[in-house]
Amino acid sequence: MSGALLHPFSPAGQDESDYINIVRGEGSTVYDEAGNGYIDGIANLWLCQVGYGRTEIVDAVTQQMNQIHGYNTFAPFTNGPARQVADMIAERSPHPDGRVFLGSSGSEAVDTVLKIARVIMQNRGQSDRQIIVKRTNGYHGTNWGGTSAQGIAANREGWGDLVPHFMEVPHDDLEAAASLFAEHGDRIAAVLTEPVQGAGGVYPPVDGYLEGLRRLCDQHGALLIFDEVICGFGRTGSWFGAQTFGVTPDLMTFAKGVTSGYLPLSGVIVSQELSEELSEPGYLLRTGYTYSGHNAACAAGVANINIMEREGLVDRADHIGAKLQEGLAALASDGLIDSWRGMGAVYAAELNRDTVPLRNAMMANGVIMRPMGTCLAICPPLIITDEEIGKMIDALAEAAKTV
Ligand SMILES: Cc1ncc(COP(=O)(O)O)c(C=O)c1O
Repeated sequence: MSGALLHPFSPAGQDESDYINIVRGEGSTVYDEAGNGYIDGIANLWLCQVGYGRTEIVDAVTQQMNQIHGYNTFAPFTNGPARQVADMIAERSPHPDGRVFLGSSGSEAVDTVLKIARVIMQNRGQSDRQIIVKRTNGYHGTNWGGTSAQGIAANREGWGDLVPHFMEVPHDDLEAAASLFAEHGDRIAAVLTEPVQGAGGVYPPVDGYLEGLRRLCDQHGALLIFDEVICGFGRTGSWFGAQTFGVTPDLMTFAKGVTSGYLPLSGVIVSQELSEELSEPGYLLRTGYTYSGHNAACAAGVANINIMEREGLVDRADHIGAKLQEGLAALASDGLIDSWRGMGAVYAAELNRDTVPLRNAMMANGVIMRPMGTCLAICPPLIITDEEIGKMIDALAEAAKTV
């Protein structure tokens, strides 16, 4: 083994020298140490909305770091960037009068949102309401709550006992969810779902599904949680998937696109109603992180959101989607891919075969897409040009022909 680094979601035995060392980025392109450029069709990992090399964010972070890099926001402390980014996020969300909890990773946001849903029920005196309903294909990060909430079975396996009270339903089957509620409705705390399932294979919800979940939660006194770690910040053509689909959850997570990954930032948006419940006199929210409200990370968030707004990147998602759909439909009609699915600026090309060799072939042609079993995920920066989209589709066609 030629190094100490243990890589995430990677074969632990793979030698460090077999990895591709990414050293630089500009626009939608990243470069390895040999100077090879790759159009980043997965925006790092579903997140780099504004693209690479944005000195405006670097400058905002530098300026903040020169004042103070970070200081905790546990009472009695607060700071300007944390306040500002929380306000900006709430204003753009379906809960403009809600509250925003901050963390660093999507996994932290997921574990926190699950704890908030549970504590709301405990505080209401409904201590038996502990069940979290989750869907097959769901991906919710890798902390204990998120691992227990995984709808990708392989990610749940091998760790020993997980968190109790998670119940799974087939991902697009509203009837199955209704049956579960009929049987266990008085013990369900919340339903956890991505608006568009991402890492589980890019599955937009079937028509009426999210509305149906909202209805079931309302009928049975449960909370609806959207995990917007991928969908949030423009990916589906609105600031949040909740707005694209016209369904308002009680709680939502975000991460990734909030800073385009310039620094780690994540969080939970809490509806006004639930915020009021948490604000009962004497209640102390006994959860949070050293880096909740980290000054420099929040400054990156403010700068990133400002860029997204100024450049109209949220509206751009649908333009990117139209171009990608055109390309993917042509590949499907030529028989080069089996099918495609997706919406906004997030897609999967289904090939019904192992896609790792295709990914490797595409990289030799300067394009990155992410293999997910039998499909390739496509989720480019929201600044990608039409020409770059064309190159991605060409590289996929070439790989599908030759591999
Ligand atoms: C929907 C969703 N939730 C949570 C996470 C976990 O985020 P992180 O890897 O930042 O912990 C991810 C990561 O891809 C995600 O897609």
